Amino acid sequence: MVNKLESSEKFARYKMVLFGDGGVGKTSLVERFINDKFEENYICTLGYNVYEKQIAHENSVISFMIWDIGGQEKFRNLRQKYAEGADVAFLVYNITDQTSFLNILNWKADLTEFTGGIPFILIGTKTDLGSKRQVSQAEGKKLASEIGALDFFETSAKTGAGVENAFRQLAVKTYQAHFSQG
Ligand code: GTP
Repeated sequence: MVNKLESSEKFARYKMVLFGDGGVGKTSLVERFINDKFEENYICTLGYNVYEKQIAHENSVISFMIWDIGGQEKFRNLRQKYAEGADVAFLVYNITDQTSFLNILNWKADLTEFTGGIPFILIGTKTDLGSKRQVSQAEGKKLASEIGALDFFETSAKTGAGVENAFRQLAVKTYQAHFSQG
């Protein structure tokens, strides 16, 4: 949705969802981006959390409503309900967990089923645990291109590496995509 504020200023608001296995680091990614903090203890998201963040880009303000939905199977129905009306998504896996990477195909299928196929970025998390890596950066890039991701980033919510950039690119690309449609 795009509204004109002044002749030179635009405001756009988008709904964003994060899909990925339980424990891959979806909440941590958002907490690092919004609150610049990191929690070592794993607290499974019970249902969902909603955040709002505004990002300035050129002469525009891009506001994201971020719906962080628990990754466990038992939340599937809830996920379907809350994914409704989403504009963009992060599909998230953990680079130290091959299964979470393979499951990206299922997450993509769910995203398509629930939203009709919105643009998304592929994210590989936990790069600070490099010695435990099971998925190479090249494999991540290849998958991103095969499944039609807008982009691919690796991140660490623990150190903050790549997090700001991933969200910023999401904002810029989403905005450009919507404006290029006229
Ligand atoms: P669900 O709510 O179950 O869907 O999980 P989630 O994907 O939101 O995962 P969450 O952010 O709760 O993180 C799970 C665990 O991984 C927590 O113990 C985090 O501290 C840890 N974690 C998340 N991101 C990172 C990271 O970048 N590096 C490291 N070392 N640990 C991380």
